[in-house]
Amino acid sequence: MKYLFYACSGEGIVRYVCQLIGKYIDEPYAAPIETLLDDLSVIAFSDSAEELWGTLHFGRQVIPPAKIAEENFDKIFICSAMSYETIKKNLTDQYGVAADKIDCTAVKQSNYIRKQFVQYFAKRAEASGIEGNVAEGGVYRGAFAKVINKCFSNRTLHLFDTFEGFSPNDIVNDKKLAKSVNKHSHLGETCVEIVLNSLPYREKAIIHKGIFPETTKNVDDIFVFVSLDFDLYSPIKSGLEWFYPRMNRNGLILVHDYFNTNFDCMKAVDEFCEYYGLMPIPIGDGLSVAIICTSQVLP
Ligand SMILES: C[S@@+](CC[C@H](N)C(=O)[O-])C[C@H]1O[C@@H](n2cnc3c(N)ncnc32)[C@H](O)[C@@H]1O
Repeated sequence: MKYLFYACSGEGIVRYVCQLIGKYIDEPYAAPIETLLDDLSVIAFSDSAEELWGTLHFGRQVIPPAKIAEENFDKIFICSAMSYETIKKNLTDQYGVAADKIDCTAVKQSNYIRKQFVQYFAKRAEASGIEGNVAEGGVYRGAFAKVINKCFSNRTLHLFDTFEGFSPNDIVNDKKLAKSVNKHSHLGETCVEIVLNSLPYREKAIIHKGIFPETTKNVDDIFVFVSLDFDLYSPIKSGLEWFYPRMNRNGLILVHDYFNTNFDCMKAVDEFCEYYGLMPIPIGDGLSVAIICTSQVLP
């Protein structure tokens, strides 16, 4: 069998796929990723980002999506945590890739683990009587906001986003992104109505549209759960700094994309956690870490 992987989004999901199709059930993290890819006959990566075409990703060529159908392969695995349905549709409709060759299992499983994590934490928080509202920083079209809103149906949900994609200053400050997919309009195909319409309890939502952390100025609240999914170094770092002192004891901050090698998210989290003596805990979805908030006020 010969495989292609779609999207150079980082090691977590790629390892996940290797485990799905390979023989690494017990120790997928033991071997260098290039070795796993060699063993599995992964012949190339593909990505929509033009800047990556012709470069090497984990030792493999990154080819344009338009070239996928010309390759001799058995399956293409989607390794992007977001919008896998759109990616699949584009590959079939625009680039003539056979639908039965496209596999989204790893991304679906990764999303499922993150959803389950929030669901269980919400139940636990409710049972333990931890007070506080909830928030998401980085909402895009509301896929995960919907999950938070459903799990914490009786709590106010603060939603922070430009709803116009990344801010140019944040792109410059994220060394990894600045070097690769340098598009400030990235993730701009959304609007507030799309998000509100997707929420089961939209009356609980408060929208804070604009560049974070400028949009926090008039917010005065205490939180039990916060999801930070801004991708980039600056808003992730300022998100941790702004939310942490406003978290209730035993509240939780979930940071997506910690293991995504396209962004400097890990750097932001590690710097913050090291400074305050905190421990980021991987949740097992290949991308996210959880930070338990042990004190309400920063030292
Ligand atoms: C990966 S998407 C979020 C995905 C979303 N959580 C989901 O589950 O579908 C990242 C979002 O962060 C937003 N974002 C990034 N930096 C921001 C900033 N400084 N202020 C406000 N929004 C920002 C982008 O506009 C984008 O919508």
